[in-house]
Amino acid sequence: MNDPGKLYVKTFGCQMNVYDTEKIYAFLQDSYVPAASEEEADVIILNTCSIREKAEHKVYSLLGRIKPLKDRKPDLLIGVGGCVAQQEGERILKRSPVVDVVFGTHNLDELPALLEERRRDGKRICRVREDAGTVPTSDAPRVKGSMGVTSLLTIMKGCDNHCAYCVVPLVRGREVSRRTAEILDEAVFLIEQGVREITLLGQNVNSYHDPDTGAGFVSLLESMELLPGLKRLRFVTSHPKDLSPELAHAIAELPSVCEHVHLPIQAGSDRVLSAMKRGYTSRQYMEKVELLKNLIPEMEFTTDIIVGFPGEDREDFERTMDMLRVVKYQNAFSFRFSPRPGTAAAALEDPVDADEKRSWLPELQDLQNGITANKHMSMVGNKIEVLVGGFDKKERGLLEGRTRTNYIVHFPGDPELIGQLVQVKINNSRTIHLIGELVN
Ligand code: 5AD
Ligand code: SF4
Repeated sequence: MNDPGKLYVKTFGCQMNVYDTEKIYAFLQDSYVPAASEEEADVIILNTCSIREKAEHKVYSLLGRIKPLKDRKPDLLIGVGGCVAQQEGERILKRSPVVDVVFGTHNLDELPALLEERRRDGKRICRVREDAGTVPTSDAPRVKGSMGVTSLLTIMKGCDNHCAYCVVPLVRGREVSRRTAEILDEAVFLIEQGVREITLLGQNVNSYHDPDTGAGFVSLLESMELLPGLKRLRFVTSHPKDLSPELAHAIAELPSVCEHVHLPIQAGSDRVLSAMKRGYTSRQYMEKVELLKNLIPEMEFTTDIIVGFPGEDREDFERTMDMLRVVKYQNAFSFRFSPRPGTAAAALEDPVDADEKRSWLPELQDLQNGITANKHMSMVGNKIEVLVGGFDKKERGLLEGRTRTNYIVHFPGDPELIGQLVQVKINNSRTIHLIGELVN
């Protein structure tokens, strides 16, 4: 057999893309091993994101930077997949002559054949399938031997909501759930590889239902709970309109399900929420947060926020700021509104002054940073369970792990602890992590 080539995949965007990148490595594992850098790769794949304009720009600027590599090494193949590929298709080939293969979000399985075809026939290829079919299958084996302590596991694809700003339904298609049995098989495989914490992944996990039996998300959590060797279970993303009281109780009662929910609010003003077509009011959102906080005192929330939706004025923006103060999120991922082609919001007029709006995002981020810092400070002195995930990437010698409530903790310790649950006393707080020491 020939020496395997080297593959480099650059991932942009959300965890769904992180998961797809793993699948890309898995589909190509018979012919390619992972490359350490773009420079040594025989195939470079960009797994792209189109959620905001900035993410899309990054793809084209990276293609510009890759061009000299290709000039030096004409055999180098460049593939573009992910959400920009799904939406832009052929236009990517026109706009960027260095690209050899464009493939859609439903075409990952064809990648080995597409690369092979490009090498054989010399023609540039665009392959973008419009829909995901009715039940996505397990796609590919996962790459063996490369698993860490934590892993993502996709339970559904696509989204049936119509949030006015969002390109996801256009690029990922209709919502389709995987069979529970298949999800459990993949989970068992992950646990055999050493995974101790699984994060179930979907655009809207709360509307998961087994395509054969109709069993819902809570029932999936209950099945996962029974898997021997699984220490922790997480899930993203929950849509506030679909987070049921049953799910809140399941989070409280199932021992492996962690005490953290990512619950994107997007905006605090009911007028803006309605224009966004989110399907809940700020009151309804708060009721769910309160129920969870009442059931689980240590519960932590993270969220996503869009600032400057068309028509949003200062008064509306203040309501979002109020939500941050009341919920006290552990962390908020906040973005300036970015009009995306094909979405309803892209066509909306915006009478509010753009310059004024520009200052709102940093203002919101300042507020959130203060809230996060206070939360971190209030953790100091606590003794808390940490799942050791690996080494701290910056400071050698330190281990890194997470609490059930999603705090990142760094502490000195023996590498043999990786994969284990340990007790750590928190001594200090930093901007994005806590610092502690092992206790018995
Ligand atoms: N502009 C800005 N932010 C967006 N998001 C989704 N679409 C847009 C857009 N057009 C944000 C939302 C979502 C997160 C993944 O990205 O907050 O929850
Ligand atoms: Fe986009 Fe809304 Fe679907 Fe989330 S729920 S992926 S924001 S359309």
